[in-house]
Amino acid sequence: MDEYDDLPEVDALLRAEKKHEWISEPRFKRMFNDIEDGLQGVLGKGKYEWVDRRVFDQVFDRSTLLAVHKLMQKGQIETIDYPIARGKEAHVFHATTNHGPVAVKIFHTTNAVFKGLAKYIDGDPRFKGLSRRHRELVNIWVRKEFRNLRRMRNHGLRVPEPLDNLKNVLIMEYIGDDKGPSPRLKEISVDNPYEVFEELLDFIAINWHNCDLVHADFSEYNILLNDDELWVIDAGQSVTRQHPSAEEFLVRDVTRIVDWINRQGHNVDLAESLARVLDDPVPEASRASGGD
Ligand SMILES: Nc1ncnc2c1ncn2[C@@H]1O[C@H](COP(=O)(O)OP(=O)(O)OP(=O)(O)O)[C@@H](O)[C@H]1O
Ligand SMILES: [Mg+2]
Repeated sequence: MDEYDDLPEVDALLRAEKKHEWISEPRFKRMFNDIEDGLQGVLGKGKYEWVDRRVFDQVFDRSTLLAVHKLMQKGQIETIDYPIARGKEAHVFHATTNHGPVAVKIFHTTNAVFKGLAKYIDGDPRFKGLSRRHRELVNIWVRKEFRNLRRMRNHGLRVPEPLDNLKNVLIMEYIGDDKGPSPRLKEISVDNPYEVFEELLDFIAINWHNCDLVHADFSEYNILLNDDELWVIDAGQSVTRQHPSAEEFLVRDVTRIVDWINRQGHNVDLAESLARVLDDPVPEASRASGGD
């Protein structure tokens, strides 16, 4: 845990100043110099001017920087180019590898963010008996998102391919083009909303029956539209059907998507949609199922 994490708010300014003193410690300075060019623009040298000091301070504590450094040494990241989004739990960056662009999701390691998250981990048998210490919890969360994405892809669902993860850093397939990430369903209007709705119900059903998972934060905020393809993102909170609240999460996911289609001028019934998810025979996975 960061030694300044527990100081009261009034010390925030002081804390901000002290926070990165560690960068001048010789061993970290060497590491930072190594990767500085890879964090485009941090000290104003790179192509991009985005990484203002605040983004840097918020995201790259020493442990995160160490993880990024290792991933760079491994060849998984060449440069971290610019932030795509800042979510509740993470910053997502556009990054470049020698194979092309990737999305790098870096989870915040501050305490407040993860207080509400334990309920998505307790009760999932895959994560039994793991330490509840905070940083460890964040790392588990990232591994959980990695595994959930992999399991969904193994069953043919359209989610970003998870490529690597280390500590609080997750590397995945980038959904977007040169101009930026694909828009979220929330931000656009589609001409075929009912088809979109049906495809999303199918996603929920395949995830439930074939992957044994419930997304648990399914909404127009976590669905990207790339050309005509729907991509579901943000699977950190997804849990298996054994989780005691799995049904509750499933109902919530279906409710959100029914609310969405009804806002597009349709009159879809929640109970019917739920029955469709639970009853419909689900087509066999198109992708070979691997481990997760
Ligand atoms: N693989 C990706 N390719 C392109 N953009 C992405 C990708 N993953 C995430 N994003 C962008 O980053 C945003 C935040 O990602 P995500 O929802 O996974 O994080 P979060 O911290 O859980 O966010 P929130 O709290 O807003 O749900 C997304 O809304 C999307 O715009
Ligand atoms: Mg999200």
